Amino acid sequence: MAETFGNSKLKVASLFCGCGGMDLGIQGGFNFLNKHYAELPFEVVYAVDNDAYATKIYNDNFSHKCETKDVREIVADEVPDHDILLGGFPCQSFSISAQNPPRLGYKDERGQLFFEMVRVLKEKQPRFFIAENVKGLLSANKRKAFPLIIKEFEKAGYHIHYKLLNASEFGVPQKRERVFIMGFRDFVDYFNFKFPLPNTLDSSKIVLKQVVDKKADKDEKWFFSQRAVDGMLRVREKMNKGRVQDLNEPCNTITSHLAKVSLNGTDPVLMVGERYRRFTPREAACIQSFPLSFKLDSVSDNRKYRAIGNAVPPVLMWNVVNALVNSCFEETIKQAILNEFQEIL
Ligand SMILES: C[S@@+](CC[C@H](N)C(=O)[O-])C[C@H]1O[C@@H](n2cnc3c(N)ncnc32)[C@H](O)[C@@H]1O
Repeated sequence: MAETFGNSKLKVASLFCGCGGMDLGIQGGFNFLNKHYAELPFEVVYAVDNDAYATKIYNDNFSHKCETKDVREIVADEVPDHDILLGGFPCQSFSISAQNPPRLGYKDERGQLFFEMVRVLKEKQPRFFIAENVKGLLSANKRKAFPLIIKEFEKAGYHIHYKLLNASEFGVPQKRERVFIMGFRDFVDYFNFKFPLPNTLDSSKIVLKQVVDKKADKDEKWFFSQRAVDGMLRVREKMNKGRVQDLNEPCNTITSHLAKVSLNGTDPVLMVGERYRRFTPREAACIQSFPLSFKLDSVSDNRKYRAIGNAVPPVLMWNVVNALVNSCFEETIKQAILNEFQEIL
């Protein structure tokens, strides 16, 4: 354990960091759509992902650097002491869209990667952890996978809260639903913690037109060919409305395969006049609530879509971590302010 309190920042280790959605959210100090998300009292001291393109994007955006590595190769000794462990462990095997091949959940090798988080928790015993995954985790393996995962986290010495959160209720222009699992080593933290309440409901929701790039409407590159449209129309008469997005609503969930989006798939697309177009990588990043200053350009479009589609929306993560700070550090913050006053007097 690092046990840093008071004025110094709490240390974060991040497994499966991807391009850094969770990491940006926990550190804060960024703008999204004219709103400032304040710096939070956390600094990432260790980050790992095995996708070299995602880590390239990560390293272009953070002053600390992440390693390109398989988490199964991590030796606990190399992980610095930290106060909070993050892990958006791979979700493909739990996802409801993963029917072909069928959802194998924890029986799939990728579905077992959460054990790597459990292994680091057992050895390092940080004060908190935050895991994130798809909604399908709750129902995978005939509802057996989720209790098993929770039990493993409990066996590592943690009290658990979990909740399904919808990003669109927290200032993100996307109806992305994700399960957050919060682990607390100390019962008092577990007792004090409250998940954030939705803060953007109904008419205050951020909608797609606020992040759509009108310039992309003029670039042929983003439009589906007439052949693709004809192919889709041969299968069905009309485009399934669920896929064409309403600009006055938050977007449907975007995924990591947006690069290969087809008109026959389930991924969201835009309708411009009579034509269909895909989102640009920058639009996908905005739909995920990355700030415009987030650098993407050192990798190909395919790699950008993949890393961005996999990410936890930074604004959603910021809300969760801000709630953690408010629930579990109120006393520490009050004490730090008091100490500063006493020093002045
Ligand atoms: C859901 S994404 C995590 C997103 C990230 N937390 C964020 O907010 O941007 C899961 C990540 O796990 C990574 N991954 C999958 N298998 C891995 C392994 N064996 N070792 C390290 N990383 C792995 C993938 O490359 C992917 O970036």
